[in-house]
Amino acid sequence: MRIDVLTLFPEVCEPFFAASILGRARNAGLVTIQCHNIRDYASGRHQTVDDRPFGGGAGMVMMCQPVFDAVEAIEKLEEGESTLILLTPQGERLNQGIVEDLAARRRLIVIAGHYEGFDERICLGLSPREISIGDYVLSGGEAAAMVLVDAVVRLIPGALGNPEAASGDSFSISSPRAPEVEGPDDAMDHAAYLEYPQYTRPRVFRGMEVPEILLSGDHAKIRAWRKEQARLRTAQRRPDLLPKKP
Ligand code: 6GU
Repeated sequence: MRIDVLTLFPEVCEPFFAASILGRARNAGLVTIQCHNIRDYASGRHQTVDDRPFGGGAGMVMMCQPVFDAVEAIEKLEEGESTLILLTPQGERLNQGIVEDLAARRRLIVIAGHYEGFDERICLGLSPREISIGDYVLSGGEAAAMVLVDAVVRLIPGALGNPEAASGDSFSISSPRAPEVEGPDDAMDHAAYLEYPQYTRPRVFRGMEVPEILLSGDHAKIRAWRKEQARLRTAQRRPDLLPKKP
């Protein structure tokens, strides 16, 4: 997979993409991630990327020319189809389903905006998939780009050490299975539920004990306990995730 990120602050995103799971996935050749400075594509002498809004109003608007030229140049870096994404608070709200869809693409080009917004003709002319990471406002799209790329890359086969690790995640919805159906795969029982509570050493920390059942070695009981904990936690914290009653 190849991901190109267009931003005014590549120096903000790059170290993030070099660390931890993402860095390892890149070094293993599972993904190519390249950051590009939109300003490098600005044609004017002053490399202007933003201007005042027609009709007046506060703030600055990202101009068409640098973004169009950047996208067109970066598309040409490699053959084949690419999926263009524009990060904006006005986009559809990102969720694990969208992440799974994007993780199946060969190539993503992600545009992170800044200023008050994009010239509307960027949306009209480039028809990107517009995505928001939640109902709050960031000063720029860089943090959103890091969120999106992180969520996508960890789904690439081989990116996580344990091949089952992603399927047990809270919100994991690939190959959905009704949570009440018992299956052989521990992780898949909890699809679309929040994760059950986890513990590691020591057995007692500041008087707080690890639930006895996790030390029992009875794997069937542990599986049942975890399933119930996941259900309880989901009911308490995120009832909206529970299967709809018929
Ligand atoms: Cl993608 N961009 C900005 N600027 N703010 C946001 C966002 C994106 N998603 C949520 N808030």
